[in-house]
Amino acid sequence: MQSHEIRRRFLTFFEKRGHTLIPSASLIPENDPSVLFNTAGMQPLVPYLLGETHPSGAARLVNAQKCVRTVDIDEIGDNTHATFFEMLGNWSLGDYFKEDAIKWSFEFLTDQNEGLGLDPNRLYVTVFEGDENAPRDNEAFEIWKKYIPEHRIYFMSAKSNWWSPGDNGPCGPDSEMFYDVTYEGLGDLTPEAYRKADDEQKVVEIWNDVFMEYEKKDGKVIGKLSKKNVDTGSGLERITMVSQGVNNIYDTDLLKPIVEKIKNYSKVADPKAMRIVADHMRTATFMIADGVLPSNTDRGYVLRRLLRRARYYYDSIGAIDEALGGLVSTVVSIYKGTDYGLERKLFHIDSVVNEEEKTFSAHLVFGKKLLEKMIKEEGSISAENAFLLYSTYGFPFELITDIAKENNISVDTEGFLEKKKAHQEISRAGSEKKFKGGLADTSEISTRYHTATHLLHKALRTVLGVHVFQKGSNITAERMRFDFSHGEKMTDEQKKMTEDLVNEKINEALPVRYDDLPIEEAKKMGAMGLFGDKYGDVVRVYTIGEGDQKWSMELCGGPHVKNTSELGHFKIVKEEAVSAGVRRIKAILE
Ligand code: ALA
Repeated sequence: MQSHEIRRRFLTFFEKRGHTLIPSASLIPENDPSVLFNTAGMQPLVPYLLGETHPSGAARLVNAQKCVRTVDIDEIGDNTHATFFEMLGNWSLGDYFKEDAIKWSFEFLTDQNEGLGLDPNRLYVTVFEGDENAPRDNEAFEIWKKYIPEHRIYFMSAKSNWWSPGDNGPCGPDSEMFYDVTYEGLGDLTPEAYRKADDEQKVVEIWNDVFMEYEKKDGKVIGKLSKKNVDTGSGLERITMVSQGVNNIYDTDLLKPIVEKIKNYSKVADPKAMRIVADHMRTATFMIADGVLPSNTDRGYVLRRLLRRARYYYDSIGAIDEALGGLVSTVVSIYKGTDYGLERKLFHIDSVVNEEEKTFSAHLVFGKKLLEKMIKEEGSISAENAFLLYSTYGFPFELITDIAKENNISVDTEGFLEKKKAHQEISRAGSEKKFKGGLADTSEISTRYHTATHLLHKALRTVLGVHVFQKGSNITAERMRFDFSHGEKMTDEQKKMTEDLVNEKINEALPVRYDDLPIEEAKKMGAMGLFGDKYGDVVRVYTIGEGDQKWSMELCGGPHVKNTSELGHFKIVKEEAVSAGVRRIKAILE
C-alpha cells in the first residue's frame, strides 16, 4: 500500500469514528518558545489537552502533523530514524479513553478493508508497570488481552512508557505497539528476548497511545488534569515500512526515490551516507517551505547544519559535481497531491539550498584536506584544528564530531569550546579598538575599495579555483584594479558569479575586524597572503565575517570598513589579460 493511501486511510478511519480532521500545523510552533520545531502531533494541541476548548468545538481530532526531531541526528542512517517525519494522530479531549483508543489502534493496524491489514501475530505491546506517580496500568493490559495473547504484552517502566512533551505540560502512561520487521515470525518472546529484539531493531515501535490524564511542572508530575485525554502518534514512515513489508524506512516510497537518485550520482557504495543525504534533504526541503532560512542561530542553524552535513556526505560518496538542489525536486514530487504545497515553493527552496551550498562548498575542499591530514597523521582533532574547521571552513562543530566518531579519532571538545569563547572575547575587544596608521590614502572611498578587494579575491578563488592569487592591486577614488593568477579569459557566467558572490557578502552585512597574530598562527588559521620576511613576527590579519559566516582572512595593513554593508553595489567593468597567466579586473562600487 502506498504511503499516500496509508495517510488517507488513517484520517478517514478516525473521521468515520467521529473525529474532526484538522490540518497539519507549520513545522514552526506558533506560540511555543520552548521548542524550535514541532516534534509531535500533540504539540500544537497542548492548550486543549490542558483543558481549553478546541476552536472547532470538537472533542475528537485527527491529523497528520509534520514534525522535526534532531535529537536523534546521530542515529540517522539506521533503519528507523528520520529528522523529519509525519505523525499520524488521533485525540480525545476528555471524551473516549483507553477502551476505544486501544480498540481503534488494533483495528486500524489489522483491518484489511479500512486499515492496513497487518498480521496480528507480529504485534507486540508494552504497557506501564507503575511507579510513585501512577499505578500499574492493568486496565490497558486487560483491554489489550482481548486482541493479542497475554504473553506478547509487556509491563515496562516510566523510562519507556511514560510520555510527556518536556518538563512541563500534559503527560501520562502510554501503551506502545511494536511490529516484527524480520517478517520471519519471531513468535512468542520472553520479556528478555523481546527487549533484545527491540535493541536489535527486529521489532520496531509503530504507534504510541498516551493516556494523558496527568500534568507535569518543572519535571515533576504534580497531579491529575481535569479531563482524561488520549494522545496518539504513529510515524507515517514506520507504518509505511511495515505495511510495505520492508525493514527500513529508506526502502519505502517516502524515501526510496531520493536514495535511488543519490545512488545514481554516487561513485562509492556507502548506504549510510546515502541515507543521511536523503534524510537531510527531505527535512531541509520541508523546513525551507515553512520559512526557515540558514543562519547561525536557532532554527536557521539546524537547517544550516543539515545542509552542510548533506553536502559533506554527498561529497564523500563522490557526488562532488552534483548540486544538492537537484534532490529537492525529487522530494517535492514525492509529496505531490498532499496538502503540504511544496510544488509552489520549489523555486524558493532550490535557491536557498543553492546559496548555502555555494558558500560551504568552497570551504569544504580545504576543510576536508585538513581533516584527512588529521585523521591520517595526527590521529585526533586538536582544539586548534577543530576551531579552524569551525571558524574558517564553516564546519558545524557537530559535523566535526561526527567525522571524528566515524574515523575513531577523538576531538578536544573542551579545548574547542574554550577557544570559541576566547575568540568571541577577542573579536569584541578588537571591534572596540580604533584603527591607527595604515596606508596613505585613508579616504572613505579608498577604504571601501580595500575591503572590496578582499571580497573579490576570495570570490575569485571560489569561482575559478584556489590557483588564484593576488598579483597586484591599485586603488583610486574612481575604481579598483586587481591582478590575479589565472590562465584564461573569464566567461560571462564566471564574471556574473563573481559579482554576485561579492554582492552577496555585501548584503550579508559581515563585520570586518583585524587581529595581530604571530605569523605561524596566521598561517595555520589559513589566512591568505604572501608569507615573506617583510612581515616580521606578528602580522595583522583582516577577517571578514564571523563564525560560520567567516568569508575571508587576509594579511593586510588596512584600512577597511567596519562592515561590508558600507560598500554599496559591486560591479566588474572590465576583465583582461596582463601577461601570460595573469588577468586583471577593473571594478567599481556604485
Ligand atoms: N505524543 C506521543 C508521541 O509523540 C503520541 O509519541
